[in-house]
Amino acid sequence: MSELWSPLVRRLTPYVPGEQPKIADLIKLNTNESPYGPSPRAIAAIREAAGDDLRLYPDPEATALRDAIAHRVGLTAAHVFVGNGSDEVLAHAFQAFFDHGDPVLFADVTYSFYPVYCGLYDLPFEQIPLDEAMRVRVEDYARPCSGVIVANPNAPTGIALPLTAIETLLTAHPSRVVLVDEAYVDFGAESAVSLISRHPNLLVVQTLSKSRALAGLRVGFALGDPALIEALVRVKDSFNSYPLDRLAQVGAQAAIEDENWFSESVARVITTREQLSGGLRELGFEVLPSSANFVYARHPDRDAAHLAAALRERAIIVRHLKGPRTAPWLRVTVGADEQCATLLDSLRGILLSNS
Ligand SMILES: Cc1ncc(COP(=O)(O)O)c(C=O)c1O
Repeated sequence: MSELWSPLVRRLTPYVPGEQPKIADLIKLNTNESPYGPSPRAIAAIREAAGDDLRLYPDPEATALRDAIAHRVGLTAAHVFVGNGSDEVLAHAFQAFFDHGDPVLFADVTYSFYPVYCGLYDLPFEQIPLDEAMRVRVEDYARPCSGVIVANPNAPTGIALPLTAIETLLTAHPSRVVLVDEAYVDFGAESAVSLISRHPNLLVVQTLSKSRALAGLRVGFALGDPALIEALVRVKDSFNSYPLDRLAQVGAQAAIEDENWFSESVARVITTREQLSGGLRELGFEVLPSSANFVYARHPDRDAAHLAAALRERAIIVRHLKGPRTAPWLRVTVGADEQCATLLDSLRGILLSNS
């Protein structure tokens, strides 16, 4: 801490991202990246754009990319906002919509960046407990608020809400923004995009980091009524008018347009997820029903931190989150088939050696 810091910076508790260690032959199952490379069309587009034009600023409105996203989801470019990863889109949304005096509502177990944005923008918040089965209970959100954010599927649980539940939130708070963070929606949940035309208070946020395997390119987007998009643009243009560089814009556009690559790789992840869940259950783990590219599992009589450390000694990293409700659980990203098989073998060995 330095006396040169502003009072706000002194108060911040920043988000701690999953580690990116440099360990040889690491099996990295801790940050929900895709085990497969991105669309070859995205890589080709990035290569082609890596030329003299980089001396020029990119399109500040990312028009071609927004058109491609709009076309895919059946909306117009006026319904689409793009940013440098969905983290940045979420940050702008918190600032644009959630400052009405009452608390922002989100689950007690959800993406741990939400309270960090509240800290950054000085927004009060209230964490609504998941039920015993680690599910969001939308009836508990019927209280005064500045806005609601739900991750659907939720992270780290992987459990998805049906659209009827999202609609309950939207109708309970017609004068507040309900933000649905759909970072993992492509792996088995139902997107709320179809509700946008009926609910001007709905903002859906998605990312290319997971189902499009482009975490390294940093592209996310929001979909919603043009009035909400205009608010996000006002924040963006008061912060950084060129959040997406030239390479990100063309790479993301090509990825969005490569429907075959997308559906094949998502299907592979889903198949492996079901095998991994089954394998973990055979080893005695309780595994929550996942609609995401990760599974959330706990062992009835093994300490999760100990299991994570033992896996790490075998060059396998998974995510263990401290905290009263998350400490018993491990979040395991769905890797390639061989990686998941190695994980299961290693866990079997660890459980046997300690029994
Ligand atoms: C629920 C959720 N939302 C948003 C993000 C941010 O993704 P990105 O900034 O890579 O788009 C993540 C990343 O893990 C996430 O888990």
